[in-house]
Amino acid sequence: MIKNKKVALISGVTGQDGSLLARFLLKKGYIVHGIKRRSSSFNTSRLDDVYQDESIKKKNFFLHYGDVTDSLNLLNLVSKVQPDEIYNLAAQSHVKVSFESPEYTANTDGLGALRFLEVIRSLNLVNKTKFYQASTSEMFGNSAAPQNEKTALSPESPYGTAKLYAYWITKNYRKAYNIFASNGILFNHEGPVRGETFVTRKITMSVARIYKGLDHKIILGNLNAKRDWGDAEDFVRGMWKILQHKQPDDFVLATGKSYTVRQFVEAAFNLIGIKIKWIGKGINEIGIDPYSKKILVKIDKKYFRPNEVDFLLGDYSKAKKILKWAPKISFNQMVERMVLSDIKSV
Ligand code: NAP
Ligand code: GDD
Repeated sequence: MIKNKKVALISGVTGQDGSLLARFLLKKGYIVHGIKRRSSSFNTSRLDDVYQDESIKKKNFFLHYGDVTDSLNLLNLVSKVQPDEIYNLAAQSHVKVSFESPEYTANTDGLGALRFLEVIRSLNLVNKTKFYQASTSEMFGNSAAPQNEKTALSPESPYGTAKLYAYWITKNYRKAYNIFASNGILFNHEGPVRGETFVTRKITMSVARIYKGLDHKIILGNLNAKRDWGDAEDFVRGMWKILQHKQPDDFVLATGKSYTVRQFVEAAFNLIGIKIKWIGKGINEIGIDPYSKKILVKIDKKYFRPNEVDFLLGDYSKAKKILKWAPKISFNQMVERMVLSDIKSV
């Protein structure tokens, strides 16, 4: 007998995590529906190879126009697709940008989750559709590390604050209406398809360009912030595991190791044979190549944030114990994957 395929709906499918999750679920035999925004330029580059594969496109992978700020659009889509699992990954996900677009960030990142939950409730899909909310370690703000599911939430940005609303509304709907609604509280995760304005990818792309002689230096902001950086492929597997657990719950996914932006820069340059030497302090600090004496890293205060989250370090012991999830890719492997991929593509 042929088993019915599970159906997943992913918002934010064109982003880093959405594109990786779509591939992961297709490999697991799901039928995947993704929501993409209308844009004046192409925004599906992370998925084009999957979408253009005729055997997949016709049967298993479907893209729909939509936006998580548009309730009717979500209502129509969920009603048509009847998903077994919804992964709400759509977000204005850049922390610095959220200070410039706080209302849009609140609408997308906060109310987007509410809209999905209301749709599940009003379409009577409570016993059918599971809901995953992409919550974030930014919600911890500067609470003491290591952070886990019991750590106080104290966001430092409009982004973190909007995500805090989505986190709580997910818990509220779980309790009030018995919806299978879970939060994945994910620490930073990166990889070759990471957005180019996040610090890791900005660094690996610049290192690749410097290596190829196409650029001279990187200009960054705060070098001393510490992040628990994992590899996005490990994390999408964790998202799926969260929804396969027998009951809805909230889980931290992290690596349990934290590095400064400065250490990320050093690791990336190391891969092209440069051991960065730091000279000076604060805004005047520079990173040089000790052999050529060339300045490779400079600081510009425009990349600093009005509030900063200084130190993120996740304790993922709950996910390890209950979901049997643990990251497989180390920090150094991840940096190498990113630098090599960028060298290849530049
Ligand atoms: P990303 O690369 O920035 O992708 C965000 C996705 O959301 C894109 O597909 C984007 O579409 C879409 N989107 C933005 N606004 C939308 C709207 N109003 N309606 C519908 N779609 C919209 O982010 P990511 O790194 O993959 O992260 C995925 C999710 O996890 C986000 O919710 C993020 O906040 C959260 N998260 C990420 C991390 C991390 O380290 N990566 C950690 C914790 C939580 P376009 O392609 O058209 O822009
Ligand atoms: N983006 C950026 N650009 N960040 C810089 C730069 C720069 O030039 N220079 C220093 N930084 C510092 C930031 O101040 C921050 O402390 C750190 O590098 C990481 O910044 P991002 O890569 O932009 O990521 P983030 O930690 O703010 O947010 C990411 O992780 C969150 C989970 O903790 C995003 O993916 C969020 O969507 C996610 O929720």
